[in-house]
Amino acid sequence: MKLHGSMKIEGNELSIGGVRCMELAKKYQTPLYVIDEELVREKCREYIQNFEVIGGRNKVAYAGKAFLPLYMCKIIEEENMCLDVVSGGELYTANKANFPMDKIFFHGNNKTREEISMGIEFGVGRFVVDNFYELDLIEEICEEKDRYQEIYFRITPGIEAHTHEYIKTGQIDSKFGFALVNGDLERALERMSEYKRIKLVGLHAHIGSQIFDLDPFLDTVDIMMKLVSDIGKNHDIHLKDIDLGGGVGVYYTKEDEPMEIKEFCEKILDRSKKTCSELGIDVPNLVIEPGRSIIANAGSTLYTVGSIKDIKDVRVYVSVDGGMTDNVRPSLYHAGYECSIVNKVNNEKVNKVTIAGKCCESGDILITDADVMNIESGDILITTSTGAYGYSMSSNYNKIPRSAVVVVKDGIDKLICKRQSYEELMYLEIGE
Ligand code: LLP
Repeated sequence: MKLHGSMKIEGNELSIGGVRCMELAKKYQTPLYVIDEELVREKCREYIQNFEVIGGRNKVAYAGKAFLPLYMCKIIEEENMCLDVVSGGELYTANKANFPMDKIFFHGNNKTREEISMGIEFGVGRFVVDNFYELDLIEEICEEKDRYQEIYFRITPGIEAHTHEYIKTGQIDSKFGFALVNGDLERALERMSEYKRIKLVGLHAHIGSQIFDLDPFLDTVDIMMKLVSDIGKNHDIHLKDIDLGGGVGVYYTKEDEPMEIKEFCEKILDRSKKTCSELGIDVPNLVIEPGRSIIANAGSTLYTVGSIKDIKDVRVYVSVDGGMTDNVRPSLYHAGYECSIVNKVNNEKVNKVTIAGKCCESGDILITDADVMNIESGDILITTSTGAYGYSMSSNYNKIPRSAVVVVKDGIDKLICKRQSYEELMYLEIGE
């Protein structure tokens, strides 16, 4: 198992942020998400320092869908980042955390009237408009509220990124954005002259997630800059911002070879400058929206091992007290993870086992064929790199309560999301 951030092995035991995992499991019970705060901040700084944000005109907006408790909003704000939200709930969270609303990018392919009203009332910086329905609604609501709104168009650039089918978004057959090929973008641009309240100031594209190859990002830069040039000439609309979305891949297992954030930023900046100079246009303000690459490796999950079922010559099933309810990614995308036993980290790996969740679902398997050390019931198992799309995609399936989240840093642990109780699980239900 690869050690991320502040993970350390002392004796035979794993600690994160200077706190022993055994201690965390005892104090907060399991399943437990553990967030290495220093690693989150390090990743934010890598982006901010390498993307010409401070003293420049570019922005890095953290994609909140990856993980967005109130405490995360605070970190993001302190690290000079903007925030991408994708629903009324995420927007509400950001507002509760007093996140500056002018630094919010409001995404979504079907924002409701209520969500749009809320965004306009809160004064979000940019709406990233996905479709004609939304365009009309924003204009109408701005009119009602006597407000003005700056927007981007989300476009579908026609880029095929090599990632899981469900997390590909830039190809033509996609529910997201205005397509280039069918003339939708052209029609949307023509319509802009009819709107009095909304102002188009930029374009956005997000080509997919967990991408390891730089080329699709660089191709997107070229397409976007050409559009800025063409739209300036043909529509007399001068776009000042280009938002390239998120998608930078991370390490989950040995098969993953992620690029360095520094390299990603530098290559994007270089390519933007080169392409714009060839087109004879000024380089727009650039925005990127990393989610996974900020938080994935900073998060881990602790579980307690329960039943161990040895089906001779077939498979050993090791069941833990969580599963698809706290990490649906293996079931949904066949995503791979690494694991270890936190108090036997240095022991030799002796068993090949399958780590199963506790849901009534054969597909609730966290890791197939993991190599582990002499695993026994009662052991505390850790899966790493669960920070992104773990807690945020968690569910109450089988009426399993949501797990708690702690942040660790400099030897101190801090609870940032409480464990859901059975009583809280009942909160929305009406008995009579
Ligand atoms: N911007 C937009 C508009 C997005 O749709 C997304 C992710 C991001 C930024 C952030 O992408 P990232 O840097 O995290 O790759 N649940 C899936 C991932 C879905 C990604 C959706 N959009 C998973 O667990 O792999």
